[in-house]
Amino acid sequence: MDASLSGGCACSGGIATASSGGLFITFEGGEGSGKTTQARLLARRLRRRGVDVLLTHEPGGTPLGERARRILKGAIPASPLAELLLFAAARAQLVAGVLRPALEAGTWVVCDRYTDSTVAYQGYGRGLDMAAIRAVNALATGSLRPSLTFLLDVPVEAGLRRKGASDDRFEGEGLAFHRRVRSGYRELARRESGRVVVVDGREAASVIARRIWARVEPLLG
Ligand code: TYD
Repeated sequence: MDASLSGGCACSGGIATASSGGLFITFEGGEGSGKTTQARLLARRLRRRGVDVLLTHEPGGTPLGERARRILKGAIPASPLAELLLFAAARAQLVAGVLRPALEAGTWVVCDRYTDSTVAYQGYGRGLDMAAIRAVNALATGSLRPSLTFLLDVPVEAGLRRKGASDDRFEGEGLAFHRRVRSGYRELARRESGRVVVVDGREAASVIARRIWARVEPLLG
């Protein structure tokens, strides 16, 4: 069982590590931050070290979540509240159906986006009430929190350039929206510095991967 579920943990550099069972690691960042690449690289490296790893992403990771993803990334009009609740529905299914069972079975989970995305995009980006977002996140996850989060930070313009033109609901938002998302993420990282590690996403992928590995390897025990 994950340390954050069982309460039984060892500590390494202030990070709660599972004494027995899976560790939950998330990747966060704005558009074109390179987090998907890094999540994959970390999962591969862990597997090479013999760790049982589940790599997944949000929104998605379950049939319901993938359906919600298509809606959320498409052009169907959705109010900010409807958007928040769709992300929450997808997350509730992923946590109950996939993440919790995996962690309880001792599998490590690497997840590309999780609750911090909602704080950054629906909270700072859309301007929804933070207390409501926290309540919805807690409800959807049963308060399952990651032990460690990597925030890939890149300037907004550079990230959007990397992604290229798109009619995606979020990628199509203006610069001001993405700037709020970025500064929201940075603010969150300052407040939760014990959990969130900020990584400069402008560096080469191999350099970033080494920095991330330097944080994760000591947790292998
Ligand atoms: P995705 O294609 O997965 O983008 P990325 O590769 O940047 O992760 O699309 C997911 C989009 O959904 C992304 O723009 C961020 C947004 N999002 C939210 O607004 N709130 C959330 O809670 C989550 C999980 C994602």
